[in-house]
Amino acid sequence: MEMDQLVALCKRRGFLFQSSEIYGGLQGFWDYGPMGVELKRNVREAWWRDMVTAHNELEPPPGAPSPYEMVGLDCAIIMHPQVWKCSGHYDLFHDLMVDCRESKRRYRYDQVQGRWVEAKGQTIFVCTEALGPEATADLQHKALRFFNLRSKEADELEWHGPVTSLTTLESSAPAGGGSTAAGRQEKLYDFSRVLGPDAKTLDTLTAPREFNLMFKTIVGALGGEEDAAFLRPETAQGIFVNFKNVLDSTRVRVPFGVAQLGKSFRNEITPRNFTFRSREFEQMEIEFFCHPGQSRAWYQYWRDRRYRWYTDLGLAGQRLRLRDHSSEELSHYSCGTADIEYAFPFLAAGDFGELEGVAHRGDFDLRSHMEGKLVRQGDALVVEQDAQGKPKYRGSGKDLSYFDDLTKERYLPHVIEPSAGADRATLAFLCEAYCEDQQPDESGKPTKRVFLRLHPRLAPIKAAVFPLVKKDGMPEVAKEIYAALKPHFNAFYDEKGAVGRRYRRQDEIGTPFCITVDGQTLSDGTVTIRDRDTLRQWRVKKEDCPAEIRGRLGL
Ligand code: GAP
Repeated sequence: MEMDQLVALCKRRGFLFQSSEIYGGLQGFWDYGPMGVELKRNVREAWWRDMVTAHNELEPPPGAPSPYEMVGLDCAIIMHPQVWKCSGHYDLFHDLMVDCRESKRRYRYDQVQGRWVEAKGQTIFVCTEALGPEATADLQHKALRFFNLRSKEADELEWHGPVTSLTTLESSAPAGGGSTAAGRQEKLYDFSRVLGPDAKTLDTLTAPREFNLMFKTIVGALGGEEDAAFLRPETAQGIFVNFKNVLDSTRVRVPFGVAQLGKSFRNEITPRNFTFRSREFEQMEIEFFCHPGQSRAWYQYWRDRRYRWYTDLGLAGQRLRLRDHSSEELSHYSCGTADIEYAFPFLAAGDFGELEGVAHRGDFDLRSHMEGKLVRQGDALVVEQDAQGKPKYRGSGKDLSYFDDLTKERYLPHVIEPSAGADRATLAFLCEAYCEDQQPDESGKPTKRVFLRLHPRLAPIKAAVFPLVKKDGMPEVAKEIYAALKPHFNAFYDEKGAVGRRYRRQDEIGTPFCITVDGQTLSDGTVTIRDRDTLRQWRVKKEDCPAEIRGRLGL
C-alpha cells in the first residue's frame, strides 16, 4: 500500500482532514472527520475497556505475578509549572534543531539525512528530508543541480558511503574529503561542506541548538512571564502528582495501575508523516505501581500484555514488533524499556516507528515529586543542586511513600509505564486494514475494490442496512431493522443508488456487515447479511439481525 492511497481515502471518506484546511492548514494539527472520530473513539474505548473496566482484579491475568487493581484519572492539561521542573521536562525535554540561513527553514538535527558525493574535484555532503527511495532520488537531483550537471551526466557523481544522518557527518566523511582537523578544532560543528535540504549553496546550516518542545502559555488575564505555564507534553505526570490522592480516596493496594487518556502537546520541530508526529495528539498511559522486589516481573508482564493488545486488534503480521532498548538507549532513570513498533508504509524498508513505549522507571517519578529534580551521579540518582548548593527545583515535600498495612513495610513503589499514542495506534490500524482486491461490478466486470479490513471492534459503523430497491415496502422493513440495531451499536441506513455501489462505500470505511432487504424478505421475512472480507452472504430472520450481528461482533 502506498501512503498516498490511504491519505486520499482518509480525506474522501471523512477519516482525517488537515486542521484549518480552508486557511491553508496548520502543520502538525489534524481533525478527525465523521468516520475518523468513531474509529479513534473505538481505539480509545477498546484500550480503556481492556485495561481498566474489563480488568478482573480478583484473578491474576495470564503472565501476571499476582492479581492487581486498575483505576482511572482525568487530569487538567495545564498543571503547576513546578511539575515540569521536577519531572525534568523543563530542562531536558528538547530536540536539537538546525536552521538554514538561506531557506529560513528549521530542521530536526537527527532527521536531516545526507550522503557524501564528489564531482568536479569537490566533495560535499548533500542533504534531504525525504525518506526511503525518495531520498535517493532527491539527493541525486540536488547534487546534479549543485554541480550544474544534467540528468544524463549523473554518472559524473561519485557517491561515497550510504545515506546517513547529518549527526554522523564527521565519522562518515570519506578519507581526505571531509572536514579538516583544523576546522574541527575551531568549530564543534563544521557544516562548511554541507548542502542543506533546501539550500542552493554550502554552509548555510547553523550549529544545532536546543529547542524545548513544551508549548508555553500565560495563565490569567494580567499574567506576565512569572505566570507562564505549559500545555502538558504527556499525561503521565498528572498520575504521579495524584498518587497520594488516589491512595487516600480509594481502597487500592499496591500493586495497582492508574490509567489516563487525553491530549498532549509537543511543539515538534518537524511534524510529519500524516498524524504520526503531530503537535497535538492523544496519549493512553498507565502508571503501574508495584513493590521494588517485583518490578522486573511486572515489567515483563506489561511488555507482553501491551504487545498482545495490538495483535488481538489485528496488527498481527510481520509489520509489528517488540524491541528491547539497548543499554545505551535507556533514559538515565530507566532499568528497562521496550518499544512496540510498526512498519508504517511511509518509512524506508526495514524501518519501524514507535507505537508505544513500555518503561521500567524505578522510583524516579515519585522521588522527583517528593524531593526535587533528580540527576544521575554514578549509580545513584540525587537531587540536582544550584550554584548555592540548594535543590535546583524543589519537589513538593509531600511523603509519597506507601505503607503496606499487611506486611508493615513502608517503601516507595516502582513504576512500570506502558505509554501509547491513540493517534499512532489509529494510524497503524488504518495502514494494516487497507486492502485492495478485484471483484465483479454490477455488469460482472472485475474491478478494483478498496476495503478496510478493520477489526469489528474498531470499525466506525458495525452494520449498514439497505433496501435492495426504494419501493415495494422494502425501505419500511429496512428502516425497522435499522431502528432495532441502533440501541446496540452504530448502524447506517442507505437507500440511495445501486446496491453494488452502496456495498463499496461501506467496504471503504470498513463496515464489517451489510444487511439487505430484498424480494424474498417480503415473502419469508429473511434478509441477507454480507461479510466485508469474504463477501459471503447468508440469510437470517429479519428480527434476528441484532443478535446475529452482536454475536459476530462479540458484544
Ligand atoms: N510518558 C512517556 C511518554 O510520553 P513518549 O515515548 O514520549 O513517552 C508515548 O510518548 C507515546 O505517545 C509514543 O509511543 C507515541 O505513540 C505517542 N506520541 C509521542 N509523541 C507524539 C507525536 N508528536 N505525535 C503523535 N504521537 C506521539
